[in-house]
Amino acid sequence: MIKRPIIAPSLLSADFLNLGEEIENLNNSGIDWLHFDVMDGHFVPNLTFGPMILAQIRQKTKLYLDVHLMVENAAQYIEPFVKAGADALSFHIENNPHIHKNIMEVKSHNKKAGVVINPGTSICALEGILPFVDHVLFMSVNPGFGGQKFIPETLQKVCALREIIQKNGYKITMIIDGGINEATALDALRAGIDGLVIGNAFFKHPLKKYDKICTHYKSLKYEAESN
Ligand code: DX5
Ligand code: ZN
Repeated sequence: MIKRPIIAPSLLSADFLNLGEEIENLNNSGIDWLHFDVMDGHFVPNLTFGPMILAQIRQKTKLYLDVHLMVENAAQYIEPFVKAGADALSFHIENNPHIHKNIMEVKSHNKKAGVVINPGTSICALEGILPFVDHVLFMSVNPGFGGQKFIPETLQKVCALREIIQKNGYKITMIIDGGINEATALDALRAGIDGLVIGNAFFKHPLKKYDKICTHYKSLKYEAESN
């Protein structure tokens, strides 16, 4: 059976002057998730958008809205994002002593919950939370900005976690985020990644049409399995 990767374009690289048009073009393009990067200028040195923007996007799409929280005190954003229409929320492990509580709160709203791990953090830090999460988001760049270079060493962690997931029979989706393009996507899929967050290499792709770009990335898994 051919397994196709989850395709999750990162809104960070969209054209904000034409956001409505961007959402319309993403609807029916075949993408699985729309990745929504929330930055607060504290956990990461950049600022992006919050629940108010997500609520407006929700009015224009049925897409699965995947919120990546790069913030201090993530707990205070759970309810606002759930109310705004998020389908999934992900929390960084690095700054969150109450991540279990946060994950359970998200699940109590019948939403998906995930944990995010930075390039410099060992997967050992994930051990306690794995039984409770729906997905693990591997940062393959240091979070904060789009258009950075992929850190290949991330894939060693992906392979190691894949084994732990299999050994324990966890139902966890593994997603990768940062510096993903055709080449790095293939390497990530070969390492066992199930889903690709793609910013610059999606929105600035020479194929231009989002349905074509989506099909293009979806076909990468096929190549990975046939090699
Ligand atoms: C970075 C964000 C990413 C970013 C990826 O902190 O979490 O989602 O948008 O962008 P690219 O694919 O351009 O590296
Ligand atoms: Zn992200």
